[in-house]
Amino acid sequence: MQSEKDFLGLKGVPLAVVEEILNRAADMKRAYSAGEKRAACAGKTVVTLFYENSTRTRASFELAAKALSANTVNIAVATSSVSKGESLIDNGKTLDALRADAVAIRHPAAGAPRLLARNMAAAVINAGDGMNEHPTQALLDMFTIREKFGAFKGLKVLIAGDVKHSRVARSNIYGLKAAGADVTVCAPATLMPAGIERFGVRVAKTLQEGAAGADVLMALRLQLERQKSGMFPSIQEYNRFYNINTEIAGLARPGAIVMHPGPLNRGLEISSSIADSDSSVITRQVSNGVAVRMALLERLLGD
Ligand code: CP
Repeated sequence: MQSEKDFLGLKGVPLAVVEEILNRAADMKRAYSAGEKRAACAGKTVVTLFYENSTRTRASFELAAKALSANTVNIAVATSSVSKGESLIDNGKTLDALRADAVAIRHPAAGAPRLLARNMAAAVINAGDGMNEHPTQALLDMFTIREKFGAFKGLKVLIAGDVKHSRVARSNIYGLKAAGADVTVCAPATLMPAGIERFGVRVAKTLQEGAAGADVLMALRLQLERQKSGMFPSIQEYNRFYNINTEIAGLARPGAIVMHPGPLNRGLEISSSIADSDSSVITRQVSNGVAVRMALLERLLGD
């Protein structure tokens, strides 16, 4: 269980809480789109502490905090005192001493946000930890799906690609299953976690099988370094069997949407003809990330 102070993952989070965040995000989206600044976090300080690279998540946390009138501090770990050997816990104590109210942390080690949360007074938000979770990405994905379809119950969602190493896949599975969606995963055997059925998902043997009749096609970024560790034989073969292209998208339901958390490997896990098509909601996902993070910051820091 996570405390009310923090937001560390979607595993075990009650559906009512997810729905409250998504409902508030709809209001935040209206305000943000209208250029309206809210005062919910006035006088509060939000820190982004990223031990891994990011464009979307880090920038949208900063924009969300600013849209709620918070002060923002961005710590790029490469140029911080971490490079002099400062530990994660000492980092947390330092940020507490500087009176940070919330810290959005991305870290290559699963569990790092939980360790930080236990050792600092500020609210800790998981912005992606190793292969564990990326809960705000899943929330923005759910928000985007709900905008299109209105509800989750019975929706057929295919998550395709490197499921094994994907924190995006894990958080989406927790959130979407709790909301009643019918989730199917598809990956090469070496990129599928053992015992994935325990998550309550269906496993498709081929991308064609998984895409047939789907409402949502969610492609995952292939982590190219996995090839070096022998997880799949060649980029060409991966592309041949796991690329969401026009043929695959044509198997989905009329009106289906195509999603990708970004950054994209165009022509590898998703073809440009699909990423840039009318069915793609990839840029909408990015925009919705600000609204969802505003809703979450308001929940954790608002009066
Ligand atoms: N989707 C996502 O986490 O993107 P960034 O790595 O750019 O934050």
